[in-house]
Amino acid sequence: MGTNFLIIFVQFVSCIASGAAQNASGFDHFWLVLSWPPVYCLQNPCNNPPFDFSLHGLWPVNSSGHTLKNSSHTFKNFQKKIEHLPFRGELKKYWPSLASSDPTNFWKHEWDEHGSGQPSEPPDYFLAAITLRKNVDLLSTLRRYRIVPGGTSYPITDYVKATKDIYGYPRLTCVNRYLLKEVNLCVDRQARNFISCNHRERGSTTCGKNIKLPRYVKI
Ligand SMILES: *[C@@H]1O[C@H](CO)[C@@H](O)[C@H](O)[C@H]1NC(C)=O
Ligand SMILES: *[C@@H]1O[C@H](CO)[C@@H](O)[C@H](O)[C@H]1NC(C)=O
Ligand SMILES: *[C@@H]1O[C@H](CO)[C@@H](O)[C@H](O)[C@H]1NC(C)=O
Repeated sequence: MGTNFLIIFVQFVSCIASGAAQNASGFDHFWLVLSWPPVYCLQNPCNNPPFDFSLHGLWPVNSSGHTLKNSSHTFKNFQKKIEHLPFRGELKKYWPSLASSDPTNFWKHEWDEHGSGQPSEPPDYFLAAITLRKNVDLLSTLRRYRIVPGGTSYPITDYVKATKDIYGYPRLTCVNRYLLKEVNLCVDRQARNFISCNHRERGSTTCGKNIKLPRYVKI
């Protein structure tokens, strides 16, 4: 009796496991990608960016941290539909474009490049992204660990310590290995809760041991 139960249980578990492995898109979880404008804007066009972390996107990734895109999951009449979202004002506030005062093209780009690689329809996807964004205040989180914008370098381990208790282990990206460009916070596949980024994701950081959070960057 007990053994039968165990066998059935094991079959059930392995069934779930193989189901996940066979998932066509490989979608596993998300990255909430937050840009630090002074550095992000070195490599991307910007116009009057805010002095705070800014939402770049909500990117679906597979379990080894590769971003996913499904080119057949398109969003027809994007402009018209996005204008009619009831939370359009909030979307503008919490997901601004760093390049333009009209973020519509930016949102469309984010949908085409990233949103289309996850299962939700656009309204739910955009709402999930800004709901997550509202719950994040990275500047204050870092400040609590005495990491403040300016000319000082801080060990990457300090950035990780500051964020991990609240949002889980982050993945960091840098320009020239020492200028913080983006912080990726990992989010569960329901786009609801922050989770720790796994070892492979953390290992794919483009930052070195010491990182600056500059106020501006001289070229
Ligand atoms: C991938 O698997 C999850 C459950 O593990 C399921 O909810 C989702 O619909 C699947 N996606 C595809 C494209 O098969
Ligand atoms: C994730 O995607 C990358 C790039 O397509 C692929 O090489 C890798 O094997 C995938 N990982 C998993 C666990 O599916
Ligand atoms: C791509 O999107 C289409 C339309 O939503 C969906 O039917 C299909 O299953 C998706 N393919 C993958 C690999 O996720």
